[in-house]
Amino acid sequence: MSEHGAILRAISEPLRLEEIHLAPLAAGQVRVRIAASGVCHSDLSQATGVLPAGTPCVLGHEGAGIIEDVGSEVTHVKPGDHVAIAWIASCGRCWYCYRGELHLCRNAIRDVYSMPYATDTEGTPLFTSMGVSSFATATNCLARAVVKIDDDVPFDIAALVGCGVATGAGAALNTAPVEHGSAVAVIGLGGVGLAALMGARVRGAAELIAVDPVASRREIAIELGATHVIDPSTEDVVQQIKAITGRRGADYVFEAVGRAPTIETSFLATRPGGVTCVVGAASPTEKISLSANDLYIQGKTVVGCQYGSMVPGRDFPMLLNLWRSGALPLDKLITRRIGLGEVNSAFDDLMSGSGIRSVIVNDEVKAN
Ligand SMILES: NC(=O)c1ccc[n+]([C@@H]2O[C@H](COP(=O)([O-])OP(=O)(O)OC[C@H]3O[C@@H](n4cnc5c(N)ncnc54)[C@H](O)[C@@H]3O)[C@@H](O)[C@H]2O)c1
Ligand SMILES: [Zn+2]
Ligand SMILES: [Zn+2]
Repeated sequence: MSEHGAILRAISEPLRLEEIHLAPLAAGQVRVRIAASGVCHSDLSQATGVLPAGTPCVLGHEGAGIIEDVGSEVTHVKPGDHVAIAWIASCGRCWYCYRGELHLCRNAIRDVYSMPYATDTEGTPLFTSMGVSSFATATNCLARAVVKIDDDVPFDIAALVGCGVATGAGAALNTAPVEHGSAVAVIGLGGVGLAALMGARVRGAAELIAVDPVASRREIAIELGATHVIDPSTEDVVQQIKAITGRRGADYVFEAVGRAPTIETSFLATRPGGVTCVVGAASPTEKISLSANDLYIQGKTVVGCQYGSMVPGRDFPMLLNLWRSGALPLDKLITRRIGLGEVNSAFDDLMSGSGIRSVIVNDEVKAN
């Protein structure tokens, strides 16, 4: 069967749907037939050069599908299993993994970028995108990156758990676990920020303040339980958050935009003793400016969130159980289902703030 992928040939060029040749599987790899792949802002940031990416590369890191083949050493999944793919393929054996900090695994990046992946039709090697490359009909990934999911979970829901939901909900559940009764603000209401809002709600936040310039995204936030919304294009975000929180600031502020000014606003809108959790992925060259004096006098904590501090084998099933119970209404995040050939229009939507998450679905993949 010939496989196809959406290839980023050069930074800032549109992705091109081309035939790809997947490498023969290595002992510790699996072949996944991709059934669904969400389009995350980090894909757009890689395509535009805001975040680093090797080229040519098959993007996509929020994927789910069916195991088609396994390498000789793979025992925890078998052909036919449904899986979601984690974009940090933690090794389980390094200093960080032994501490339970799998999201900081030092071997994940080295191992995914050195594994056999794919070439184009000319034989030119293609870079993987974080070991997932889900903008494709099928992929090769490390077996340790895949988590088996129940057969009745829709693939589009499972795909979102692979990045946006893992990161956003994980921020409020794992990285900066929200205490019940807290005042929580979320700045940036894309798939990641809205998942953080849902996660904060699961943890029993009493006030949920949602901030985004796009009116339709603020409306969805209200449907998801936001108690207050703020339009940063017409309102002073720090003043408004303080007005809602007894002049203190929010107990927790989650930044899910990925820009220095919104990170600085998040810090200012955090109450003394509170937590600013930076989830957005800013360019590596960007610097933030915080008052050193405020940091110590006001005893604030600034915490960076890498992948919602996920332990995928533990947390993906937990997130899906919360979805099943209705506590994480992930269906609300999916505003468009598209074919692989339409991936560039999903980037246009991310740039214009239209909808929330587009998910590429492969209708040819049928559950067993
Ligand atoms: N930390 C991680 O591990 C991780 C994982 C996945 C994604 N990310 C990052 O999280 C961020 C969000 O991703 P997404 O897919 O939800 O993106 P998205 O584009 O869907 O959402 C970003 C939102 O920010 C809003 N926004 C823009 N300017 C704003 C402002 N001044 N104030 C408030 N809101 C503003 C936009 O309108 C948009 O709704 C991105 O930076 C992405 O790269 C980080
Ligand atoms: Zn992502
Ligand atoms: Zn490790």
